[in-house]
Amino acid sequence: MKLVILVLLCQMLYCVDVDKNTFSNYKDVKTMHLHIEWLLNLDEKVIDGCVEYSFKVSANRLSEIHLDIYKMNILVVYYPDNGQVLKWHVESDKVQTEEQGDKLVIELGQMYKLGDTIKLRIKYQIGEDARALSFMDPEQTDDKKAPYLFSQCEANNCRSMIPLQDTPSIKFTYSATVITQSPLINVFMSGNRLLNQKFTLINDYKKGQIANIFQFELNIKIPAYLIAIVAGTVQEKSTGRRTAVISESKNIEKYQKELDELDNYLGYLENYIGEYKWGSYKIVILPASFPFGGMENPLLTFANPTIIVGDKSGVSVAVHEIAHSWFGNTVTCNNWSNMWINEGFCVFLERKGLKQLFGDINLVHVNSQVGNNEMNALIKEFNSSPDDFVKSYASLHPKTLDHNADDSFSTIPYERGFQLLYYLEKQINETRFQQLLKAWLAEYEYQSADESDFYRFMILWLKLNLDTEEYQNIKKSIDNVYTKWVYDYGQPPIQETFENPASKEVLELVNSWIEGDGTKPQNYQIFDGFKSNQKQLFLSTLQEKSKDVTVAIMTSLEDAYHISDLTDAELLFRWYNLSIVTTYAKDNTNLLKIKKFVGLVGRMKMVNPIYKALDKQTATQWYQENKAFYHPLTRQSIENIIKGKTISK
Ligand SMILES: *[C@@H]1O[C@H](CO)[C@@H](O)[C@H](O)[C@H]1NC(C)=O
Ligand SMILES: *[C@@H]1O[C@H](CO)[C@@H](O)[C@H](O)[C@H]1NC(C)=O
Ligand SMILES: *[C@@H]1O[C@H](CO)[C@@H](O)[C@H](O)[C@H]1NC(C)=O
Ligand SMILES: [Zn+2]
Repeated sequence: MKLVILVLLCQMLYCVDVDKNTFSNYKDVKTMHLHIEWLLNLDEKVIDGCVEYSFKVSANRLSEIHLDIYKMNILVVYYPDNGQVLKWHVESDKVQTEEQGDKLVIELGQMYKLGDTIKLRIKYQIGEDARALSFMDPEQTDDKKAPYLFSQCEANNCRSMIPLQDTPSIKFTYSATVITQSPLINVFMSGNRLLNQKFTLINDYKKGQIANIFQFELNIKIPAYLIAIVAGTVQEKSTGRRTAVISESKNIEKYQKELDELDNYLGYLENYIGEYKWGSYKIVILPASFPFGGMENPLLTFANPTIIVGDKSGVSVAVHEIAHSWFGNTVTCNNWSNMWINEGFCVFLERKGLKQLFGDINLVHVNSQVGNNEMNALIKEFNSSPDDFVKSYASLHPKTLDHNADDSFSTIPYERGFQLLYYLEKQINETRFQQLLKAWLAEYEYQSADESDFYRFMILWLKLNLDTEEYQNIKKSIDNVYTKWVYDYGQPPIQETFENPASKEVLELVNSWIEGDGTKPQNYQIFDGFKSNQKQLFLSTLQEKSKDVTVAIMTSLEDAYHISDLTDAELLFRWYNLSIVTTYAKDNTNLLKIKKFVGLVGRMKMVNPIYKALDKQTATQWYQENKAFYHPLTRQSIENIIKGKTISK
């Protein structure tokens, strides 16, 4: 009993390290607000930054503030109120400098006590070493008129563009003033834009040139990883009452047309989960080197151009990112071991929205099956690794201590997390589970949580809302699986197959192809009538059975469906991966097509499997040729893949 009380007390007092991937002393002092000032010099690829912090002290005595930084130049730290300059130094460890950055230690020059507020200012400079930032030359853009800049802060990369408490367990509001030295460059951030004014530089080396000043503000508390910026010759086009699309001018009409139902998607999700509280919603379609499908920056989702297929088949990424407005951005994981608190819940809500969008639950199940196939393949892959960290990536609780949290990123938190919630919904009942999720959002609104918070909340909610017998039965069925589902490295204890008529057709066609060994099945043309996700399932099932897929079958498939000429990158990367695995692509035109693909698409989900499948020599050669095109995060992950390869495969 005593122990229990001690543990509780300890948690309340924050003796527990919630997030070990930050060097900051966030338990002793908390960021309340940040004001960012950035002077963008995109020609030189440098940013002069000044950040003003409002902190609140949560320890009894505080004499230092520790912040996360990654490869930046700190110039000066001072109190804005009286100008007093403060002592600072950087504590670093050679390995950690590359992995997670360093600790900036600021000596406050006096002792603060619980409840005090502190205002500080830091002036600093960042450049191409900032791994959150992608600086692009005009030639690398669609419009080719001006340089371009975009950020990607998740997981722990915000510390490379701002010195701060870089942990999802600390939330704050922010505002920003951004000045560009070119009138062509337009800027958006993950907040409301209050001002955009042009002015003339008067005594600068660029005298007479027009500069552009922008102001932003976000009054809802967010974690560091949701700060975002895009700057370039980008413009905005409305797609509805609350929504808009932003991109360079070249393809903007195409993007606007493909995303003209964004307002409806927002409505579908609201139907299930309640009001969208962030105001407007805009999607930026970034250059093709963007490493992800989408990134849920509040009010300003970033998306990869591969989601624009022409037939709206890629818009589920948009639905996913909107769903993060609730799961991820409103209730946030408290460290990156708990990422499924964002992603699993987000996929669950996404699929509630897709049910309304598709008008057919079977087609939603097809998505879940594709997800399942990919999850199972990864669980196998991670489990076969000798590295205990990699093994843990198969669970919903990956190890990230002393590592770059990005390393643990995979489809596991999405699909394994989704499956757990799907299972819970089945035990609890759909209507009630919906109520439970709404209550969870209300309870943890604008806060951070982990899997034990969710477990405790769920059990208490069930206890309060069900009669005793039902409560006990349901609790028992949850307790039988929850811990295994979250912590074990093997398959989840229970697996839903999601079989349905729409997938049955697909699986039967795969079997006929394999049995035919190169002869086309009689009904082979039904493939052309499949929806995009059925085609994905077709290819991912072939991948599962790749041992039985001969070059003759691949040749005949290509002849029948011309898959490598399609424009849907979701299909292309699966086909190309399979082409390498089955040796259909080997020193021939097929291989050249794949080479071209990895030079045009920088989305990690799509290029990483291809680099994994290639032999070391080819992978190294292709990587060197395309390195300049890739984003810093993509570079890092491909380099890791190549490092892990042995010379002859
Ligand atoms: C994340 O939080 C969980 C508790 O929810 C803890 O077990 C784990 O060690 C933490 N991981 C890191 C890297 O801080
Ligand atoms: C699920 O719960 C709701 C609300 O408690 C109830 O009205 C409904 O009948 C239940 N559905 C099933 C299938 O048990
Ligand atoms: C790509 O091929 C590898 C084998 O090299 C396989 O393990 C992986 O599951 C495939 N990935 C996809 C997405 O098809
Ligand atoms: Zn997501």
